[in-house]
This record gives sequence, C-alpha cells and structure tokens, in this order.
Amino acid sequence: MERIIITGALGQIGTELTLKLREKYGEENVLPTDIKEPEGEALKGKPFEVLDVRDQERMKALVSEFKPDTMMHMASLLSATAEKNPQFAWEINMGGLVNALETAREFGLKFFTPSSIGAFGPSTPKENTPQVTIQRPTTMYGVNKVAGELLCDYYHEKFGVDTRGVRFPGLISHVKEPGGGTTDYAVEIYFEALRNGRYTSFIDKSTNMDMMYMDDAIDAIIKLMEADPGQLKDRNAFNVSAMSINPEMVANEIRKHIPDFELDYDVDPVRQGIAESWPNAIDSTEAKRQWGFDPRYDLEKMTEVMLEAIRNK
Ligand code: SER
Repeated sequence: MERIIITGALGQIGTELTLKLREKYGEENVLPTDIKEPEGEALKGKPFEVLDVRDQERMKALVSEFKPDTMMHMASLLSATAEKNPQFAWEINMGGLVNALETAREFGLKFFTPSSIGAFGPSTPKENTPQVTIQRPTTMYGVNKVAGELLCDYYHEKFGVDTRGVRFPGLISHVKEPGGGTTDYAVEIYFEALRNGRYTSFIDKSTNMDMMYMDDAIDAIIKLMEADPGQLKDRNAFNVSAMSINPEMVANEIRKHIPDFELDYDVDPVRQGIAESWPNAIDSTEAKRQWGFDPRYDLEKMTEVMLEAIRNK
C-alpha cells in the first residue's frame, strides 16, 4: 500500500484515517474525497477532491489521474440515518460500493471497506458472536452491510480484486463526532460530560454493544491492509471489537474523573430497537489469529484519553 484514495474522508473514520495515512505514507500519496468541501483547517491547502460516490465516471476519472494502488471506501450512511430514508441509504451504501468495487476492478486497486456489527440481527447469538454465524439483520444499514460483505467476497473470487474488510463496532473518537449512528451515545457522553456535567442517553441503561477507540480502528485497517495475503484465510467481514459496554459502565468510568457527572435516560425507541437487534459482544479471534488484531484501549484507558483530549480543545 503506497498511494491511497479515500471516499467519505470527512466522516468519523475518514477524518482520522486521512490524517494517519498522510503521516505514514506522505501527504502527496493520500487523496481524500467527500461529497462536500472540507470546512476545518485540517485538510485546507492539501490534496482533496469533491466526489459523490454515486458518480462512477468521476470516481474513475479521479483514480485515473491520481493513480493510487489502494482505495478505502468509507462513504456510507449510518444505521439510524439509513432507517429514516431506506431507499436513499440503498442508493448511497450499495450504489456507492458497486461503483467503488468496479473502479477497483478496472484499475487493479487493493480495496478496503468497513462492515459493521450492524450486519448481525436478532437471531444472531448475542454473546461471543462468532465471525461466521446467522446474519439476518432487520435494518436497511444491516441489509447493506451483509450484501456489501458478500459483494466484496464475490469481487475477490470472481475478479481477483484484493478486497479486505472488518466488521467495526461503535467507534469512539474526539476528533470528529459521528452522525446518525446507534452507537453515537458513547461519543456524545464524553463531550457532554465536559460541557455540562450531565448526559441524557437515548440508549437504555443495560444495553451492551461492542465499541472500540478510533486509534485501534485505524491501526486495524492499516494492519489488515498490510497483512501478507498468504496469512488471510478470510478476506472480509472480520469481527473486531475492544470492549462490550453500556451507558452505565461509561458513566461509572467518567465519574472517576468527574465525580458529579449525572446520567439520565430518554430512550429513543428506534435506536434502542436497533441496539437490541445487535450482539452484546462479538468474538474477534479470527482477526487476532489471521492478521494480529491487537487493540490497546479498554474502557478505562479510552475514558482517560477522551476526557483529556476534549478538555484540551
Ligand atoms: N456505529 C454504527 C452505527 O451505529 C455501527 O456500525 O450505525
């Protein structure tokens, strides 16, 4: 991996991924793209292109000009947003993926795209969820993710595209807040703890979901992309998670730093329903075994760095 084009580069993952890849591979070797121009300073004056992932022609033109060897396709609508307009979600999530895979096929690019714990559903085993198991998601996001996993496998088998991917849990970061996800509470809670000393959670008390700190997520992407293909028995849909947590657990950890922190609840039935349809804790054994997935942040360490970083903003 030497020269990389990224779609959805202004999103929660894309923003930090762009920064990390630039640091590692050089600014001139990373082309972030998104549907809109960047607002913040971070990307100003550096290579950046506006790209709507539904526009296959422009995607190919950018690749033909920039000549990357790798595409990281991050553009996607998250679970709660997708539920509000499922047809539109299909267009962006599936239409965008098909265009990205076609571009990767035509130009011989290595390819990464994330799947999610959203690819599981209510009939999936909830604890220690294996990588290969029942996948009958009940959200449009989940339908898109399962179809995406299969499509990436298909492009590898049928066309020899070097597709790789993981199932991310909720990702927690302080650089860019997520938007429209079911796991977003676990980011908001840190920002609100410092802004107001309190948070009202839309996810109920004891609802466990898998989560991971963004640094570990970015490391996982790079590790998987740089893994020797001979090591990989699977290609896509690796389960990865660093912790299984619920709002009470996060609040208790925050109270070690902000003793008066208050947490109450105003449960959103849509997002709660989505959360309940997902596993409580997935099993990341295959990712560890096949390419050395090794997350460094647990809830305690993540809480420390999140609060510290937000305080310094
Ligand atoms: N964080 C995502 C969401 O909540 C899960 O992949 O939609």
